[in-house]
Amino acid sequence: MRHTKVKDLLNSTTTLQEVNAKGWVRTFRNNQFIALNDGSTINNIQCVVDFENTPDETLKRITTGAAISVTGNLIESKGAGQSVEIQVTKLEILGDSDAEKFPIQPKNKPSLDFLRENAHLRVRTNMFGAIMRVRSVLSFAVHSYFQQKGFVYVNTPIITGSDAEGAGEMFKVTALPFDNTPRTQDGKVNYKEDFFEKETNLTVSGQLEGETYAMALGQIYTFGPTFRAENSNTSRHLAEFWMIEPEVAFNNLDDNMDLAEDFIQYVIKYALDNCKDDLKFLEARLLDEEKSKPQADRSEMALLEKLNFVLENNFKRVSYTEAIDILRDSTPNKKKKFNYIINEWGADLQSEHERYLVEKHFKCPVILFDYPANIKAFYMRLNDNTEPGKETVRAMDILFPGIGEIVGGSEREERYDVLIEKMKALEIDEEELSWYLDTRRFGSATHAGFGLGFERLVLFVTGMTNIRDVIPFPRTPGNAEF
Ligand code: 4AD
Ligand code: MG
Repeated sequence: MRHTKVKDLLNSTTTLQEVNAKGWVRTFRNNQFIALNDGSTINNIQCVVDFENTPDETLKRITTGAAISVTGNLIESKGAGQSVEIQVTKLEILGDSDAEKFPIQPKNKPSLDFLRENAHLRVRTNMFGAIMRVRSVLSFAVHSYFQQKGFVYVNTPIITGSDAEGAGEMFKVTALPFDNTPRTQDGKVNYKEDFFEKETNLTVSGQLEGETYAMALGQIYTFGPTFRAENSNTSRHLAEFWMIEPEVAFNNLDDNMDLAEDFIQYVIKYALDNCKDDLKFLEARLLDEEKSKPQADRSEMALLEKLNFVLENNFKRVSYTEAIDILRDSTPNKKKKFNYIINEWGADLQSEHERYLVEKHFKCPVILFDYPANIKAFYMRLNDNTEPGKETVRAMDILFPGIGEIVGGSEREERYDVLIEKMKALEIDEEELSWYLDTRRFGSATHAGFGLGFERLVLFVTGMTNIRDVIPFPRTPGNAEF
């Protein structure tokens, strides 16, 4: 007999004869009531066992975590808390779960740390089930948004020969042996003998390849894994994360901001419309977590209110120069509460500054733009009419409450000569990036794009606080379990 998903059973508006459900036992109480979950929804279906006519042997095996199959009639529930339940006529244990050993016991509320160590089982909890369903819906929303607008989905390479961000935080890819590495005459590793006959690494961003496609297909987006070997052990950084990178020919920085804002609002709205039960649960979880925090550290809005706020309010657009003025005059700066004091124009903003701007000053999402050229990547377009020594580029970062930077992007430097000069100044190998420079040699045009860190978006939407909790198997410094 084909089983019916718990979600569909719970949504049934009529009673049904002889249904079958399969799933995992969440709880079993009074030798009679099974809360069964199959992952299709956060809600469990109550299965009522006729315990008098069920052998003790079987009843003992209905333990938390066990996989079971139940058959029976779907009837209106007499108990509170659910509208329907299954009156079990046949129960089969598919896979036992030793109650002594199964680590996810509802009674002793496992800590998030403990759950991270058990990332293969944590998805059996309500919390992680909800997070991962929301994550899945959000990724569908990403595709839906861009596909509706006629963007072409481009799969940029994961193994690359270039360092898109020029930050050098790359994982090397090699098939050379560690002992007995082939060397050149001057003692360096001889990559000519490696698999690709050159030095390669895992991509930090698909942008540069994406740009070449935008300059033919017009509007493209990537959505794939990216890798950074930065040793940042924070609640916002992963060594392997997913990034969405749209790139659009003929767009300038203002168009880029409009696109980013519209896109983010669309995916959040999509999650609100399609993940109601999960988000309601996550909102309650967050409220509960915040009870243990001092009043001042609690968020002013509950989760759903916060998500709606982002939909209903424009993002505040502020130039870097304005932001520096605000920060310089801010109380934490004057009282030396920031770890990095802002004294002058040109300072790189730390996450403490970004969060001050978003959470304390503007109290809404903020788009910072026109950053100093020397703190941003080589490919960003130099602003016309900037003072020597105070050059700015058409960069934008979107900052979110509780998250900090969620998007980084820019209008690109489309002028061949200006780009070459910048690369020379930064000692970026022109030969290596000759293919990239071809976009500027042949039919160059204004274009712009951005990268959205998918896990940071999932963090925001789920109200979780640690990025390790919104990706199934997080990779961070010192951790590559599973
Ligand atoms: O600001 P980033 O480094 O920008 C780029 O990579 C550009 N090539 C994007 C583009 O213009 N096409 O990274 C973009 C976003 C950040 O804003 C952040 O949300 C996320 O990627 N991100 C990370 N997320 C998790 N862990 C990390 N280590 C991250 N590094 C960046
Ligand atoms: Mg950035």
